[in-house]
Amino acid sequence: MAARLFLLLDLIIGAYCQVSTIERRNSRYVKLPVVHSTNKDVFSDFGDKRAITTVPLANRSDVAYYASLDIGTPPQQVFVQLDTGSFELWVNPDCSDLAGSADVRFCQAVGHYDSSSSSTATQLAGSKTLRYGIGTAKIQYFSDDIGLTGTDAKLKGVQFGVATETDDEFAGILGIGHGINVTTRYKNFVDELADQGVTDTKAFSLALGGKEEQEGVIIFGGIDTGKFTGTLKTLPILPAAESPDGVPRYWVNMSSLSLTPPSGAKKDYVNETMAVFLDSGATLTLLPTDLANSIAADFGAEATDANGLYPVDCSLNDLPGTLDFAFDGVTIKVPYNEVVREVRNAFFTQCYLGIMASDDFVLLGDTMLRSAYAVFDQTNNAIHMAQYVNCGTNEIEITKETDMSTIKGDCDAPTSKTSSTESTSSSSSSSSSPSSSPSKTSGGNTAATGISTPGASTTAQAGDSAATTPDSSSSRRRVEWCLGLVAVAFWAAIVI
Ligand SMILES: *[C@@H]1O[C@H](CO)[C@@H](O)[C@H](O)[C@H]1NC(C)=O
Ligand SMILES: *[C@@H]1O[C@H](CO)[C@@H](O)[C@H](O)[C@H]1NC(C)=O
Ligand SMILES: *[C@@H]1O[C@H](CO)[C@@H](O)[C@H](O)[C@H]1NC(C)=O
Ligand SMILES: *[C@@H]1O[C@H](CO)[C@@H](O)[C@H](O)[C@H]1NC(C)=O
Repeated sequence: MAARLFLLLDLIIGAYCQVSTIERRNSRYVKLPVVHSTNKDVFSDFGDKRAITTVPLANRSDVAYYASLDIGTPPQQVFVQLDTGSFELWVNPDCSDLAGSADVRFCQAVGHYDSSSSSTATQLAGSKTLRYGIGTAKIQYFSDDIGLTGTDAKLKGVQFGVATETDDEFAGILGIGHGINVTTRYKNFVDELADQGVTDTKAFSLALGGKEEQEGVIIFGGIDTGKFTGTLKTLPILPAAESPDGVPRYWVNMSSLSLTPPSGAKKDYVNETMAVFLDSGATLTLLPTDLANSIAADFGAEATDANGLYPVDCSLNDLPGTLDFAFDGVTIKVPYNEVVREVRNAFFTQCYLGIMASDDFVLLGDTMLRSAYAVFDQTNNAIHMAQYVNCGTNEIEITKETDMSTIKGDCDAPTSKTSSTESTSSSSSSSSSPSSSPSKTSGGNTAATGISTPGASTTAQAGDSAATTPDSSSSRRRVEWCLGLVAVAFWAAIVI
């Protein structure tokens, strides 16, 4: 009798185990929330409570995007900035180097990894200096297990950097650009996900989420069809050799750029192919000067301010127009309220165009990407893109067999804002949308990571840096310098 019971139990356990392995094998994707730096609900649950409650997170950038990792054994939770414009993962900025006490507390609150408290940590030979547009991080390589917070996905023995010294960095950075044999000699985070079977392919989809949503989602190895409308259109990633800076980034051809103003009279700015790269780590979108000036003029800005930004009327936030970025077969319509940045301090609210002039470096940053749903597919060397709309959640796995062109979003096309006033309206809109401020996080760190230069490390040692990546050009340095200045000026303006 007892033997039979055990046999039965055995069968039940056996069946259960088989089911659970099958389930795991059937869903090789892992989802992480993308947290906006302004999201008080998330950040207030975390870290040093006293620090968090006194950090005016809501006054910070609307444009820095974080995901949470559990590093080591036992796990230590660390928030890192998601950056499609760089290639390596590192943690532990030196918070003491930051100028404002609020920044210091924010930096401390994103979490800290202590290798000596992790039983699975190994220090590796090799260090490196990572240079971003603004800011640098000197790192020592370590290897440790990394879990994706809130999921059962766990990576063993991942190589990443622990900062020994940083300048102008608010949080660690999770570079999700190309890794092994392209920009690095070791497997980066995206490589490890595929290598260790958490995902079937080296692809991830990114929905940053609108300014008002305060949260987005990144799915490694999967797609959420509840986050876009229409079918995903496949755009080949330009080979590094054919890209403007020769660095293997998420470069694609943009075919035209136009404006659909509230009046509906469409205006084309560019009617020729232009290479742009998609950079979640960059706050602003950078376009050639003539183009940026033309767009700015249509938003009522005749010139840039001393920081190189185009001041615009905040009432534009309430108007139903869109700025339309067209690619082969898909147009991403960016509503005015996503392209206009609202900057608030204790005394007044100032609005700026989320676009800056740059003749050397053209990139689509957060001000454009919030309106797109994009699958970054290294396996097929392509970006699959559609218009972002949030109508729920429906996750599917990406396998090597997945035909992206057949994947259709569940959402209806976005409904344009109904406008009660024409563009002459000067009513203040400062109370209607989420507050934001141009902290260094937005102007500096993010723009910075966008134009990180993989070849610019100064202390790279054997086995760490890529053999293939080119040096940073002087033109790029100029953009970096320029953005740095903007960030510093912005920060000074806020602090004073
Ligand atoms: C990277 O290159 C090395 C040496 O050429 C090769 O052995 C290895 O398989 C490559 N790895 C990947 C993931 O392509
Ligand atoms: C991108 O555009 C350039 C210039 O029109 C063209 O030569 C190139 O073939 C295009 N590349 C891709 C991958 O579409
Ligand atoms: C852009 O190109 C298309 C097709 O080549 C043409 O029909 C259209 O008139 C052009 N628009 C402008 C503003 O040049
Ligand atoms: C944050 O914003 C609120 C309201 O906009 C304002 O009262 C407060 O002074 C701001 N705090 C800082 C540190 O700028």
